[in-house]
Amino acid sequence: MAIHYMTAGDSHGPGLLGILEGIPSGLALSEEMLLPQLMRRQQGYGSGGRMKIEKDRARIMAGVYDGLTTGAPIGLLIENLDFANWQEHQPPLYTVPRPGHADLAGAVKYGLSHTRPISERASARETAMRVAVGTVARLLLEAGGINIYSRVVQIGGVRAAGRPAEELLNEEEMKEIHERCEESEVRCADAASEAQMLAAIDRARESGDSLGGSVELFAYKIPIGLGTHVSRDRKLDTRLAAALMSIPAVKAVEIGIGADVGMRPGSEVHDQVDPQQAARGGRLTNRAGGIEGGMTNGMPVWLRAHFKPVATLQKTLNSVDLQSGEARRARYQRSDVCIVPRGSSVLEAELAIVLADALLDMFGQDRLDQTLERLAAHRARSIVEHTGHA
Ligand SMILES: Cc1cc2nc3c(=O)[nH]c(=O)nc-3n(C[C@H](O)[C@H](O)[C@H](O)COP(=O)(O)O)c2cc1C
Repeated sequence: MAIHYMTAGDSHGPGLLGILEGIPSGLALSEEMLLPQLMRRQQGYGSGGRMKIEKDRARIMAGVYDGLTTGAPIGLLIENLDFANWQEHQPPLYTVPRPGHADLAGAVKYGLSHTRPISERASARETAMRVAVGTVARLLLEAGGINIYSRVVQIGGVRAAGRPAEELLNEEEMKEIHERCEESEVRCADAASEAQMLAAIDRARESGDSLGGSVELFAYKIPIGLGTHVSRDRKLDTRLAAALMSIPAVKAVEIGIGADVGMRPGSEVHDQVDPQQAARGGRLTNRAGGIEGGMTNGMPVWLRAHFKPVATLQKTLNSVDLQSGEARRARYQRSDVCIVPRGSSVLEAELAIVLADALLDMFGQDRLDQTLERLAAHRARSIVEHTGHA
């Protein structure tokens, strides 16, 4: 596959490192261009105190010359401002793991009598670097006219009112929804649902609990044929599910109507082709979420991801002391109450990485101008022009 990336970094270490390999030469890239998405990850109702300390900014350490990518690996560095605070007073070494976090399994697996090395890396602080890397992918997609959007559709027991995703075929309508989400502290477009979500988060905070929820992701102007049906690991749905599920606290991913496919007959699941729109992959509906047979079908790609509630609760849960083996209540440390609003920026980042990867697979990854020329030529061909070669 065309691109890959890796991160290193602990939650309270000096900083986060990222290396992104495979981006073609010629993409305009600066530290300022990475800032808006990093800021989005830091916002959202239900965030904890850490986000007030950090002012995430990614430094570009390699792979960019004169404001353009060179085709070499892109090196990124984000400093942890909280590192300085922890130099003066090191925190206690926690010996009671939090149910739902990586603490217990990690301590057993790595033979540790306290959980610090595990929680340092399992912490979602690492997702700041994912957002920086994902922003590079997103800028590449935008150069090809492809934009990514998201909206929060559920927090705890509150489901947002609004048009179902399968009906959102028009990008202009999506842009309006997305703009309303950007102004909402819970990233929900519907004002009445937003008020209920805010109240639900307040109630969870007051009772020392946490809340999960669901986010829908969208990408428009997707060419037909990203991904492939030929191999399990190259199918686009495989890659999307793996990428989104790799985000901490994501427990389920649906492609298009997802779990609903089992409840509807075939005639109400499959998207019929509209011959008038066929050249652009046009369908009458988009229940498949723009993916059939592991490939994009030319319709908008849409997915739904579900976050569990965070594991660090003020209302602590039953656990065990790793040193004595005795029953204990889990520890509480500074934590988010609900990560769903800001988690959506991490989901968008992973979606961008997978789509950019598949785009470069198909249209080449040496020079951006050539990639975009091939993409434009592909888009200009009708179904018959595409299929007539064999
Ligand atoms: C943006 C973001 C912020 C998070 N913040 C917290 C947090 O403050 N406290 C917490 O316990 N978990 C938080 N999590 C979730 C944990 O990192 C995650 O539950 C943990 O690593 C265990 O992994 P798993 O839930 O995927 O099994 C956050 C996740 C994301 C995506």
